[in-house]
Amino acid sequence: MQINQQTGDTNFPLSKMEAPIFNVLAETAEKTNTEIYVIGGFVRDLYLERPSKDIDVVVLGNGIAFAEKVGQKLKANVAVFKNFGTAMLKHSDLEVEFVGARKESYRANSRKPIVEDGTLEDDQLRRDFTINALAISLNQSSFGQVVDPFNGLQDLENKLIRTPLDPVVTFSDDPLRMMRAIRFASQLNFKIDQAAVDAISSQKERIKIVSKERISDELNKIILSKKPSIGFNYLFDTGLLELIFPQMTKLYGVDVIKGRGHKDNFYHTLEVLDNICQTTDDLWLRWAAILHDIAKPATKRFEEGHGWTFHGHEDKGARMVPQIFAQLKLPLNEKMKFVQKLVQLHLRPIVLAQDIVTDSAVRRLLFEAGEDIESLMLLCNADITTKNEYKVKKYRNNFELVKQKLKDVEERDQLRNWQPPISGNDIMETFGLSAGKEVGILKNAIREAILEGDITNSYEEAFNFMLQKAKELGLNRV
Ligand code: CTP
Repeated sequence: MQINQQTGDTNFPLSKMEAPIFNVLAETAEKTNTEIYVIGGFVRDLYLERPSKDIDVVVLGNGIAFAEKVGQKLKANVAVFKNFGTAMLKHSDLEVEFVGARKESYRANSRKPIVEDGTLEDDQLRRDFTINALAISLNQSSFGQVVDPFNGLQDLENKLIRTPLDPVVTFSDDPLRMMRAIRFASQLNFKIDQAAVDAISSQKERIKIVSKERISDELNKIILSKKPSIGFNYLFDTGLLELIFPQMTKLYGVDVIKGRGHKDNFYHTLEVLDNICQTTDDLWLRWAAILHDIAKPATKRFEEGHGWTFHGHEDKGARMVPQIFAQLKLPLNEKMKFVQKLVQLHLRPIVLAQDIVTDSAVRRLLFEAGEDIESLMLLCNADITTKNEYKVKKYRNNFELVKQKLKDVEERDQLRNWQPPISGNDIMETFGLSAGKEVGILKNAIREAILEGDITNSYEEAFNFMLQKAKELGLNRV
């Protein structure tokens, strides 16, 4: 951001407001003698040079009536939301929302405020953060001037999330704002003002009046930010995470028995998550990183002579995924299945990378991961967080070997989206069988022979193998 420190000139975004809509808004304001301002996220994003398509306009007077005037001028449809006192129109790729300046007061059990008409400053004061309370005048005498009663520009400069009111009031009024504060900190790489952090800690229980969908919406935005650990650390430190996603907080901590500890799986998970964010924007792959070790606390054992183990955490973790998705109101569809599959398989490539990499092991991995093999490899690569340089080097080298083998085996055997070369029907017809145990035995035997590399993934070899196997079972061709 550029604020001229000598003159305090903060009109910098004006040049960015070249979209024709601003002229139309200003002309209508002049003609109708109405005071209007662009406000909120659009102004913030102008300064941060983030693209933004949603323009909020605050009208000192009747927002809906003003929107209708603008709509007439632009010959655009205006959608009116009478209950909210707002109106919206689309112009090229921009969405413009109009609202009368308002004053709000809240009741204890609802996020819905009681609304009255107010001044511009009342309107700014009711907003969540100082950086979201900036307004730019669209009125002729002051066009482009920034109205910044709470030092939002300074906070943008200092990368600080701060509330215009006492943060306890702001968060208690609308507890979703606790999630928003943390989400903006994560998206923008800002710090949250200490008083606001303390207020989140003290008001955290209020999150219970917010719908799960809205909470997950914000959580997903945190996960989609460049470095989600920023957000998760705030969620954890303030106690919000414990309330919205307790399973994740169980990863925290290190147990020590006989002088032996294990790594802190909470911070390990955050490292894996940040790592994977450097290679993918896919929300669900990022979720897989969050959940890959989720069952470690439940499977943790100290074994004499061996140390800490987490046997079966990948299976148990995969079983926990549907319940966690349901609890967070995330979709229970193929996205959930994808996350589940990656949690289930997340150890496989790394185990391969530690061992001798045989063709059949690679073939099995490819068979099970199918079209998600690349995602799985990204997850495993992100999972290497050891600080031991020697180990990192060894894993990464072996990992490259696994990748090369995957490529070779795939080219040769085409196991991705594998369909058996001999179908159940083929088997039944060949031996005059009806559906039953024998068909299953033969199908499995063929699959195993292909995965072991005893035969190739071709109809001919599979057919001959089937005949031989059938003979052993005492089955005759019809
Ligand atoms: N706002 C608020 N409290 C909320 C939600 C929104 O005070 N719980 C105000 C803020 O001034 C915000 C504006 O309404 O800037 C618009 O809200 P919204 O479109 O939800 O968010 P943006 O700030 O525009 O950011 P984003 O689009 O990233 O959600």
